[in-house]
Amino acid sequence: MRDEKRMAPVERESGPGGTSQAIEALSTEDRHFPPSEAFRAQANVADPDVYARAAADPEGYWAEQASQLDWFAPWQTVLDWQPPFARWFDGGRLNVAHNCLDRHVANGLGDKVAYYWEGEPGDRKVITFSGLLDDVRRCANALKALGVGKGDRVAIYLPMIVEFPVAVLACARIGAPHTVVFGGFSADSLRDRINDAGAKVVITADGGYRRGKTVALKPQVDAALADGACPSVRHVLVANRTGDAVGMVADRDVWWDDLVPGQELDCPAEPMESEDLLYLLYTSGTTAKPKGIVHTTGGYLTGVASTFRSVFDIKPDDVYWCAADIGWVTGHSYIVYGPLANGTTGVLYEGAPDFPDPARWWEIVERYRVTVLYAAPTAIRAHMKWGAQFAQKHDLSSLRLLGSVGEPINPEAWIWYHHHIGGDRAPIVDTWWQTETGAIMISPLPGITDLKPGSSTIALPGIDAAIVDEAGKPVGPNEGGYLVINKPWPSMLRGIYGDDKRYRETYWSRFPGRYFPGDGARYDGDGYTWLLGRVDDVMNVSGHRLSTTEIESALVSHELVAEAAVVGVSDPISGEAPVAFVTLRDGSAVSKELGETLRQHVALKIGAIARPKSVMFTPDLPKTRSGKIMRRLLRDIAADRPLGDTTTLADAGVVDLIRDASRSGKEE
Ligand code: WT7
Repeated sequence: MRDEKRMAPVERESGPGGTSQAIEALSTEDRHFPPSEAFRAQANVADPDVYARAAADPEGYWAEQASQLDWFAPWQTVLDWQPPFARWFDGGRLNVAHNCLDRHVANGLGDKVAYYWEGEPGDRKVITFSGLLDDVRRCANALKALGVGKGDRVAIYLPMIVEFPVAVLACARIGAPHTVVFGGFSADSLRDRINDAGAKVVITADGGYRRGKTVALKPQVDAALADGACPSVRHVLVANRTGDAVGMVADRDVWWDDLVPGQELDCPAEPMESEDLLYLLYTSGTTAKPKGIVHTTGGYLTGVASTFRSVFDIKPDDVYWCAADIGWVTGHSYIVYGPLANGTTGVLYEGAPDFPDPARWWEIVERYRVTVLYAAPTAIRAHMKWGAQFAQKHDLSSLRLLGSVGEPINPEAWIWYHHHIGGDRAPIVDTWWQTETGAIMISPLPGITDLKPGSSTIALPGIDAAIVDEAGKPVGPNEGGYLVINKPWPSMLRGIYGDDKRYRETYWSRFPGRYFPGDGARYDGDGYTWLLGRVDDVMNVSGHRLSTTEIESALVSHELVAEAAVVGVSDPISGEAPVAFVTLRDGSAVSKELGETLRQHVALKIGAIARPKSVMFTPDLPKTRSGKIMRRLLRDIAADRPLGDTTTLADAGVVDLIRDASRSGKEE
């Protein structure tokens, strides 16, 4: 009986219908912030005509952007579009690391700072473009010494230390696609990604620092590789960060410091085809198995380099800080590739925003005279909670532009960010995009666009977005619908690694011929875009994507769990938080301790970010007559809201039972 339940497919209702509250909340927001004359006068993009020009000839527009890169051989065709498969700049040859490093050094920028690095304990390094180039060449030669050749995949599992961008760029230099796994992911998650990618080498560190403690990484790699679980892996390259004792496996593991510094500096950048694989990055979808998002070389670099220039209005003397982790796409595109392709000086910070105290970020802004700061709404809300006094202690007058990414920024947080951090002077670019889009898609251009707090405004030049109903028909102003992208763009994903079928089904089947990102949205009367959240079973926790199904399957893998349903509830800091409803196997006793055990079990299976905020034990889960779990109802229960229509419930009594259980048994 119970086992049958475990196997039952969990179907759910989805659609932008659940977002009407958000629509109401947002439609009262009508404050406008036009660009100041001073900002407009110096902006990289100040002519509003750029939108019409790009719309009239998107391929011409993107070719113009691509021509700002250094190509070893010119492309023959700008776009070859066999839906849903795109090829951009076919015939062209280039190398991403060459574009990020060599060409700047050749142009006399060798002594310019590439990164100011700050470790959490307070240790610091300054690394120039020529210093970074040397490190990348040595690391690339070390990878070759470990048997990595063009086309071989390399997994990277590192804390935010200088070796991180070095490793990423070393892979790009020799044409070995990287697959970065965020350091917060568990050994299980790491193993799955290594195996799906078939990685030959894993680059890691002993550990990293987080809130004054060390977080172990190498032991996670050991656990992932144990018992021959990752047959493709030949070697593990281990950077020394914390000095914590770690075991080294003979003939497999090698210390970075023993191998990399002694390498030759001679390492030519491999000429890559425009459509050669640059990297894979795994992201959660609606099933338990994460998708390996495929990004290629020429189009991706064109997209990130171009949007970095236009959206962040970058000038040669800017000091730019994206306070994300390179483990997520934000870090790939806007800590490493976009900034370095533009020869921009960046800040890399290893640790937490509130260590040793909540002034840490503002201290960093003051120390390096940061001019452009790119952060997530969840962090802004945390700073709001800690209070503006920490920012007020520091000189933030260098800041001239602020960015937001990862989830909708609520107007209250926007206004706080604008006032307390941006001194009412710095425009805020609220940038909508995804792992799959590779680069920013919807965002203000700060020299052109009037800002509205909470709106990501309009699609960038060369991007053709729309909001449609179920039938694919454009919706009117203030009607919620589905966001779609009508035409291919250079930095778009080229597929899901090894799974063309899933690629078609996930992104191209709901609205044939158009890309469906999975977000609900509406336009206001001015044609401004208001993102309304995911319309699928994907949650957004602190700007990171989590799959409800993935958490459910982690729960069900525990021996005492019969069935589980996970929903996202709103949370004042993280935006959303997972809440689990769990039915135990017959005979298992409910206890507070078991709730805690299951929360830890999820952290162990996926990573701490997926740990449910609470676990509610229920005698049964509410289902429709056809057996679908009624997640809307569970969301209402989790949020302690009045219940909606329950008449489709198979057993209406279940709701009361669950509600009683949730009231008495909520775990904190
Ligand atoms: C999902 C993508 C893009 C890098 C970070 C997340 C949500 C992202 C915004 C924004 C509203 C946003 C969407 C999207 N999202 N930015 N500015 N406003 N929603 O990358 O993990 O691939 O997640 O994040 O729901 O689909 P990701």
